[in-house]
Amino acid sequence: MRTTLYYFTGTGNSLACARAIAKGLGDTDLVPIASLRNEEHIRVPSERMGIACPVYFYSLPVLVREFIPRLDLSAVKYAFLVATMGGLPGLAVEHGEELFKKAGGELHAGFAVRMFANYVAEYNMRGERSVRAMQRRMERRVAEIVRIVQAGERHLETGGPFDRLLGRAMFNLLGRKFVQEARTRDQRFTVDPSCVHCGTCAYVCPVENIRMVDKSPRWLGHCEQCFACIHFCPAAAIQVEGKRTRVRGRYHHPDVRADDIAGQRRAG
Ligand SMILES: Cc1cc2nc3c(=O)[nH]c(=O)nc-3n(C[C@H](O)[C@H](O)[C@H](O)COP(=O)(O)O)c2cc1C
Ligand code: SF4
Ligand code: SF4
Repeated sequence: MRTTLYYFTGTGNSLACARAIAKGLGDTDLVPIASLRNEEHIRVPSERMGIACPVYFYSLPVLVREFIPRLDLSAVKYAFLVATMGGLPGLAVEHGEELFKKAGGELHAGFAVRMFANYVAEYNMRGERSVRAMQRRMERRVAEIVRIVQAGERHLETGGPFDRLLGRAMFNLLGRKFVQEARTRDQRFTVDPSCVHCGTCAYVCPVENIRMVDKSPRWLGHCEQCFACIHFCPAAAIQVEGKRTRVRGRYHHPDVRADDIAGQRRAG
């Protein structure tokens, strides 16, 4: 069965996962969600479809929350969601289910896949060993996901009662505000004098939210908070105001390059 696998990624985890799933399933088209951000009506062309994206603030990224309701799911017989995250998926799968219902369809499987946590505004990046452990874990999880999807099983990883309670509390406490404010949270980004004026930040941004003015980045207020600009800056010159990002490391998935992140602006 042919599969359309839509994806969104800031630092490559979700793309690495999507690529591995596509390889496992075979006959899969990988389509960047960012390339469809201005399309009102998106007809899914295959009977099987999936979405791979990160968890943001115990839910799905705003880009994905706004993408699912615009899908025409009339041809779809099986839909799955792969939410990559750092350890706390919260309500991501549950919200995925709700959004598919809103689009007149159904989410048959939802997976929360623990990868490398990239939210540098709150914590430091872990070392190489942790990246290798993530890759091994991802391979195991992908094998499981491919088996479940190929079998057409129902499988929703919404967590146990305690996880759901915690997810709801955290989403209510922080996630709702994030959803409302995400686009303009780029006001918190600042640039250090160590900037080498290379333009990489503007190049990688999957939604063209950075313009170079006098060789320095200016954020335009329609940010997805993917953190690609922060993590791909070769001088680690972009900081999140009021956070200790200057003393923290940067990360992107070892198999994903700046070109891949930038490539999300183009279809297919
Ligand atoms: C704005 C933002 C919010 C995040 N919120 C969460 C979260 O609520 N729970 C979690 O486990 N990880 C969270 N993370 C970590 C990412 O979900 C995780 O690193 C993900 O695999 C990144 O995927 P990507 O490389 O495809 O962008 C967050 C990251 C960002 C940038
Ligand atoms: S400005 Fe930075 S954080 Fe915002 S969408 Fe673009 S790359 Fe992502
Ligand atoms: S990527 Fe970093 S060094 Fe390059 S222009 Fe942007 S802020 Fe400056």
